[in-house]
Amino acid sequence: MTNERKVTDIKNIVILTGAGVSAESGIDTFRSAGGLWEKHRVEDVATPEAFARDPDLVLRFYDMRRERIQEVLPNAAHHALACLDAEWKGGLLIVTQNVDDLHERAGARRLLHMHGEHLNAWCTACDQRHVWRGTLFERPSCPACGVPGQLRPDIVWFGEMPYRMEEIYAALNRADLFVSIGTSGAVYPAAGFVRDAREQGVRTLELNLEPSQGSHWFDESRYGAATEVVPAWVDEILRG
Ligand code: OAD
Repeated sequence: MTNERKVTDIKNIVILTGAGVSAESGIDTFRSAGGLWEKHRVEDVATPEAFARDPDLVLRFYDMRRERIQEVLPNAAHHALACLDAEWKGGLLIVTQNVDDLHERAGARRLLHMHGEHLNAWCTACDQRHVWRGTLFERPSCPACGVPGQLRPDIVWFGEMPYRMEEIYAALNRADLFVSIGTSGAVYPAAGFVRDAREQGVRTLELNLEPSQGSHWFDESRYGAATEVVPAWVDEILRG
C-alpha cells in the first residue's frame, strides 16, 4: 500500500542522510567498492573493544578522518538541504548519520548528528565534549577537567547507543514525509526509520544512487547522484 499525500498536505518533514550525501565532496562512503569498510575492518577501528585493545590505531584512524573532512567542502546536496531548512515553514529535522560537518557548513540548522561528530572530542573522565580540530593521538589533556589521555573521538561506535533517539522518534511521529538520502540502509536503528514511518502512515521517499537494502519500504525512489536528485527534489517541494 502506498501512503498517498499531496505535497500541499505536507507540513512536517524528517530527512535521514548518510555517506552518499558527502561522497561528491570527496569523503569515502563505507560500503561501496573501495569504501572505508573495505580498507579497514569495523572490528579494528569502530568498536569500544577495538579502542580498548589498540587505542593508537583507533586514534590515528580518526585523526586522519578529522583532518580529511576539514579539507573538503559542502556540495550541491548539502546546499539544497540548507536552503530547504531556511525556507520550509513547516517542521523539519535533518537526522544525519554523517560525522562530518558539511550540513552545518552549508548552513543547515535543524540538524542532529545521531552517530556523533568528528570535530568533537569527548572526555570520558568528566563527560564534557569539546570542539576538536587537531589530533588526539598524543593523548592531550581535557580542557575542562585537565585529566590527560581520556579524550576519545565523539563517534558512536558499533555496540553503542546512537544519540538523541527520543527526539528522532518524536519527529518521526509528527512527520508527514520521511526522506532517506544517500544511505545503504545497512545500519540500525537508522535503517528501521522507513519502516517505523510507513507503519504510521507517513509518506516515504528514497533518494540514492541505487536501491538501498530497505528500498521496498519506500513509496517512491529516485536514483541518481545526490548533487542532482537532492536539489531537484528540494526545488519541487519548495515550489509546492
Ligand atoms: P554506506 O556507505 O553504507 O552507504 C552509502 C550509500 O550512498 C550507498 O547506498 C551508495 O549507493 C550511496 N551513494 C554513494 N555515492 C552517492 C552519491 N554520489 N549520491 C547519492 N548516493 C550515493 O553509508 P551509510 O548508509 O551512511 O556508522 O552508513 C551508515 C553507517 O554505517 C555510518 O554512519 C557509519 C557506518 O558504519 C558509524 O560509523 C557508527
